[in-house]
Amino acid sequence: THQWRGIIEEYRDRLPVSDTTPVVTLREGGTPLVPAQVLSERTGCEVHLKVEGANPTGSFKDRGMTMAISRAKEEGAKAVICASTGNTSASAAAYAVRAGMVSAVLVPQGKIALGKMGQALVHGAKILQVEGNFDDCLTLARSLSENYPVALVNSVNPVRIEGQKTAAFEIVDMLGDAPDIHVLPVGNAGNITAYWKGYQEYAADKIATRTPRMWGFQASGSAPIVRGEVVKDPSTIATAIRIGNPASWQYALAARDESGGAIDEVTDREILRAYRLLAAQEGVFVEPASAASVAGLLKAAEQGKVDPGQRIVCTVTGNGLKDPDWAVAGAPQPVTVPVDAATAAERLGLA
Ligand code: F0G
Repeated sequence: THQWRGIIEEYRDRLPVSDTTPVVTLREGGTPLVPAQVLSERTGCEVHLKVEGANPTGSFKDRGMTMAISRAKEEGAKAVICASTGNTSASAAAYAVRAGMVSAVLVPQGKIALGKMGQALVHGAKILQVEGNFDDCLTLARSLSENYPVALVNSVNPVRIEGQKTAAFEIVDMLGDAPDIHVLPVGNAGNITAYWKGYQEYAADKIATRTPRMWGFQASGSAPIVRGEVVKDPSTIATAIRIGNPASWQYALAARDESGGAIDEVTDREILRAYRLLAAQEGVFVEPASAASVAGLLKAAEQGKVDPGQRIVCTVTGNGLKDPDWAVAGAPQPVTVPVDAATAAERLGLA
């Protein structure tokens, strides 16, 4: 009997680990690459979804966290800390449990989805709700890690990026080559940095014949890279990417420019439209931030910026169950019926 071993064992020779690194894993990675029929029809392209919500804690963060926590354990850390819009904290909390470490998480007060808060709580993280936004939380986390015995596991920790680059490896391994375009949501800009690194490494080693153009999408109310300036009070319903001063800003620009790509914005309305399309027409339930990639692809297609016939991968970064409020909001209330088949049949429109 075989199962996927987690990204460190599957890609050990491409990651900064040694034989003595303790591997802390929940068998993350190996996520589905799902052909997207409706998106393919709409764009005239071959569109695939890299479904990162299928990771153990429900987001792509697990790829980076297995690396960050394994290396922190190797270095003897007893405690880890992160700033988070929710997913990083959920992942850090879970992996810290596996490693026998204490986790501390700093989240913007009132601005993280309930499911993510529940994950951090149930995994026993020490949680502080900070009276500020994500950027303030990150400043605080950095300062604490510099002055106290606690290891920082945000994506400013380079081993996080190393872990996350494995998603690009999986895509090339599955498709046989890099796609023409890779689309993903951008918040703190760690993930676009990581994918670009992964694609470049595979091209350098001739495992892929080329690299894709990298297309990143920010939410309009939180689009510092698009605007070219820090957004002091970022806003968007996609709380995961509500970030005004991304830590990996310069790396995101490099990924864009070196790949011949683009970084653009999508409105909350466009995000929710893509969110509903993914669930209702592709059968893939993601959280709102994740739908920014697909919203961006649809926007670009409507603007005539997508030549037909290309192979495109959209990363959908997190599971829809983390933030179900938007699934329920605006949907019709389910009808209540007695235990009676005739009534049920009639209400279902079967009779
Ligand atoms: N999608 C989801 C679901 C996320 O949680 C994040 C980031 C992103 C996209 C953007 O990725 O920051 O690498 O550009 N979430 C971080 C967190 C900030 O704290 O969980 P990025």
